[in-house]
Amino acid sequence: MSESTMQAILVHEYGGPEVMKLEGVDRPSPSADEVLVKIRYATVIPLDWKIRNGWMQNVFPQTLPYMPGFYASGVIEAIGPEVTEFTVGDRVFGMIVGAYAEYGIAKVNKLANMSNAEFAVAPMDKLVKLPDGLSDEDAATIRAGADTAWKALFTEGELEAGQTVLIHAAAGGVGQFAVQLAKWKGAKVIGTASTANLDFVKSLGADQVIDYTTTAFEEVVHDVDLVVDAVGGDTETRSMAVLKQGGILVALTQPPSQENAQKHGITAKFNTKFPTYADLQTIAQLMADGTIQAEIDSIFPLSQTNKALEKSESKHGRGRILLRIGS
Ligand SMILES: NC(=O)c1ccc[n+]([C@@H]2O[C@H](COP(=O)([O-])OP(=O)(O)OC[C@H]3O[C@@H](n4cnc5c(N)ncnc54)[C@H](OP(=O)(O)O)[C@@H]3O)[C@@H](O)[C@H]2O)c1
Repeated sequence: MSESTMQAILVHEYGGPEVMKLEGVDRPSPSADEVLVKIRYATVIPLDWKIRNGWMQNVFPQTLPYMPGFYASGVIEAIGPEVTEFTVGDRVFGMIVGAYAEYGIAKVNKLANMSNAEFAVAPMDKLVKLPDGLSDEDAATIRAGADTAWKALFTEGELEAGQTVLIHAAAGGVGQFAVQLAKWKGAKVIGTASTANLDFVKSLGADQVIDYTTTAFEEVVHDVDLVVDAVGGDTETRSMAVLKQGGILVALTQPPSQENAQKHGITAKFNTKFPTYADLQTIAQLMADGTIQAEIDSIFPLSQTNKALEKSESKHGRGRILLRIGS
């Protein structure tokens, strides 16, 4: 590869893992208020395969070919002339391209702008510097993981010390942080997972774990203040019955049924808010000082992005899946 090119994943048509191709493309260059990031770890999230399968065209339409991947950690390789907060060599994590609603389709689909690539450009307000003590690997788990847990628990869920929260998919990329952050807040935590992940969820600090493969959670859980639901479907419907009157359900997978929520006398919200810059800095510091820890499920090379997404699409595992791209 020459200095002006790079390896990246491109998707030319919607479909399964086979539509993801590793190709040589032009290296992007930052505009005045952007930085060029040499990606070290890209974050693999369920949204990656939902988009690739063509399931999200109403919400996240793509101009084909598109380059997948939203979040990453890496090191700043170059800066635009208006960039003041960063300098070449800074280690950063964050969103490689702005959210769709914020930046518009054209910006999002600018080729070579996404994280499944050796280099990417990002607006400076979407990146956070890594505090001392935070590894590139762990930093890549924050966006759409620890930050989502933070929003679901505290921004949408209004969780207070002494309250009880039920966290579904407690071993997953979001759930692992939801358990730890809720304990940090002083809440009582109940988590659901399969048999193989029960000890892991306990090790995160959960007070009670429920094996969803053998036990219907509604038979053993009652009167909780908050449910964080990263599973959806039937799990959402059944969760409404375990909340106390006035409790809150925060759904991560779909807008929850308002009709059911009314029947149960609870509030049901869809987690759509973005974390503030201050939230991200706080989370990064909590991770740097060891208050919360990141479990990495597995790490794939860029050339096996399709396999990484296949693993994510299995919907089972422990912690976050990453791509290791550069050093
Ligand atoms: N709205 C938002 O802001 C937002 C942000 C991030 C994620 N999400 C969505 O939230 C969902 C979860 O994301 P994620 O990144 O945490 O996914 P993930 O890392 O792939 O989660 C997988 C976990 O789900 C668990 N699981 C599967 N079926 C379960 C069940 N019936 N009951 C309890 N646990 C179950 C698995 O546990 P076992 O291996 O033990 O089965 C596994 O640990 C995805 O649909 C994602 O798109 C939404």
